[in-house]
Amino acid sequence: MRLLLCGDVVGRSGRTVVTTQVPRLRRELALDFVVVNGENAAHGFGITDKICEEFYASGVDVITTGNHVWDRRDIISYIDGDPRLLRPVNFPPGTPGKGHGVFALGDGRSVMVINAMARLFMDAIDDPFTGVERLLAERPLGRVNAILLDFHGEATSEKMSMGHFCDGRVSAVVGTHSHVPTADAQILPKGTAYMTDAGMCGDYDSVIGMQKEAAIARFLRKMPGEKLQVAEGEATLCAAFIETDDATGLATRIAPLRLGGRLKAHWPLDVPARAFSP
Ligand SMILES: [Fe+2]
Ligand SMILES: [Fe+2]
Repeated sequence: MRLLLCGDVVGRSGRTVVTTQVPRLRRELALDFVVVNGENAAHGFGITDKICEEFYASGVDVITTGNHVWDRRDIISYIDGDPRLLRPVNFPPGTPGKGHGVFALGDGRSVMVINAMARLFMDAIDDPFTGVERLLAERPLGRVNAILLDFHGEATSEKMSMGHFCDGRVSAVVGTHSHVPTADAQILPKGTAYMTDAGMCGDYDSVIGMQKEAAIARFLRKMPGEKLQVAEGEATLCAAFIETDDATGLATRIAPLRLGGRLKAHWPLDVPARAFSP
């Protein structure tokens, strides 16, 4: 199975690169399933029902989120009606929405997507390791053909620990939230694909997707500053490409994908794309 996880989509330029590139990426990479983290899609903060529809129309299958999931309040009443929009599984019991879903591919195969959130340097929430363990006990690999975990977190140590915690039991653990892609894509010893952070789909001439001046000012003066505004320059699409063995559900390949904007382009297959131009 071929899966793509696009990291945090930030603002309009991030949405544009995702919705224009996903149809072509589905074709050229023969993708079976596409997940995007949409927590910053609405002008940098949260997501709306209209943006969800735009993603689905372009060929996105599932949208994950993180700490910014509720920034646009309308999504709170929307999320229970959309099983393809996930929030972290380890939010307290009774929180609207779900932290995982099992999705059919149309050819009989199925994939479980889990969205969990880390705790170091983040909000105090329930233990993500226990939350993931519970889901894997209910539905281990074998019951589904692939399991993809978007682990939304700040600390690389917590993300690597989750990767090894899931090794051999999940197809891929890919981090989101830092908005910067890491260079550590690898298949762990027991067969789980891992990358600490997929990076953002957004304008990299910025401070993690926000206009530079207001962001820098926050570090220069210990005062409430100007409101952060999303950077609107051309975005780089940053994603993790994963290939799995349908028989075992374990990974046979993981590679970064970078396309457009300021970051050096990277194509995840050895064969170049037919028309690979950023
Ligand atoms: Fe984010
Ligand atoms: Fe985040």
